[in-house]
Amino acid sequence: MKDDNFLRENNARHLWHPMAAPADMQTNAPKIITGAEGVSITDIDDNTVVDAVGGLWCVNLGYSNNTVKEAIAKQLYDLPYYSAFGGTSNPPAIEASYAVREFFEPDGMVRIFFTSGGSDSVETCLRLARQYHRLRGEPTRTKFLSLKKGYHGTHFGGASVNGNNRFRINYEPLLPGCFHMPSPYTYRNPFDETDPAKLAQSIAKVTEDEIAFQGSNTIAALIMEPIQGAGGVIVPDSSFMKLLREICDRHGILLISDEVITGFGRTGDWSGARHWGVQPDMMSTAKGITSGYFPVGAAMMNQKVADVFENDTTGEAGIYHGYTYSAHPVGAAAVIATLAETQRLDLKTNAAARGTQLYEGALKLADKYDIIGDVRGGHGLMTGIEIVSDRTAKTPMDMDTMKRIHQTVYEAGTMVRLGAHNVLMSPPLTITEAEVDSILAALDKGFAAA
Ligand SMILES: Cc1ncc(COP(=O)(O)O)c(C=O)c1O
Repeated sequence: MKDDNFLRENNARHLWHPMAAPADMQTNAPKIITGAEGVSITDIDDNTVVDAVGGLWCVNLGYSNNTVKEAIAKQLYDLPYYSAFGGTSNPPAIEASYAVREFFEPDGMVRIFFTSGGSDSVETCLRLARQYHRLRGEPTRTKFLSLKKGYHGTHFGGASVNGNNRFRINYEPLLPGCFHMPSPYTYRNPFDETDPAKLAQSIAKVTEDEIAFQGSNTIAALIMEPIQGAGGVIVPDSSFMKLLREICDRHGILLISDEVITGFGRTGDWSGARHWGVQPDMMSTAKGITSGYFPVGAAMMNQKVADVFENDTTGEAGIYHGYTYSAHPVGAAAVIATLAETQRLDLKTNAAARGTQLYEGALKLADKYDIIGDVRGGHGLMTGIEIVSDRTAKTPMDMDTMKRIHQTVYEAGTMVRLGAHNVLMSPPLTITEAEVDSILAALDKGFAAA
């Protein structure tokens, strides 16, 4: 490894960072993270802070799980790579598919297609949804419905169903035939509706209306996050996902639950859909599937979808889609170990308890600071705090102030993430009560400084 001076001098010079402007990264050099232990990270200047971001909503097991690390290291020596494209397989991939299926069987998932991450998993679900309808003899079903404020990764399909302009405008034109319904965002919505259950009803009506307008036989799938993550931790009413499930059923539309963040315990249950009592037709996952220790994702299908592919008589059921690293043996070994550890440590139970603590602590901060416009969470370890410069007018806080808050919170011992004028938190699911308290204390200092 090169020395610190080399790293500082070359920081952001040659590396373009995702979700950042290259010139801005050169002026405001990114923090160089050099190590991690438990739920904390250490930077090149030897600052150690609690990672309230969990890497990027992904390090569910914290940074020190030796079982997963050893499983990865062992597999590197046994078989570092082999392709799973039709014709070959490998033992960890077979075992991982069994383990993932067992994990998500209560959600109705029976088939697993491994990918290299969340965007890949979303793309896989969208493509297979179209192919499913073709195989069923309804090739007109090509369109997709999704929610504003949703985040579904950055491939062209995912960006097309994405509900945030920032991820779309520079890359347009995107996939035709994608239509966006309102987000279940009680704090701001086009109906000025503050009651979450009524808002859910209004969005359901708009969705039915859009389906009637498009023609239900043109729509392949509706994709949604059970709790919108990157869009600001938007928690819908408990009726919302069920309402959309019923609408999909009435119109022959597949429901894809994008569980890239919400899978594997983050919501306080093993999946977000299960949290709301819904069984989707497909699920996209990544992140917690390996706790970020290796890049893996998975798209999953229920029996209804699997049957259409597996009992096909048209000869068109070949899945001409996949990634070089689909079912990567080292990734698969990471999946097997991560799922075993996730269950052994019962991460969902700790996520529920610590999530409530973080949410209630954030609500107390809202009583103290006028700049807090809205606090969202309370369902596991996903918390969003929306910052405003005027509480009555709900004016979004300017980004200079947001960056100042971020830095002050960091100096007080906690790494948080900014999503526009929201402070977003998704710490490891192994976090302790004392560590959540230290996050809240750091936020207190950050808001006081602002
Ligand atoms: C709900 C959701 N879907 C898809 C993605 C894309 O995943 P990745 O960044 O692994 O491609 C993300 C990433 O945060 C996500 O939150």
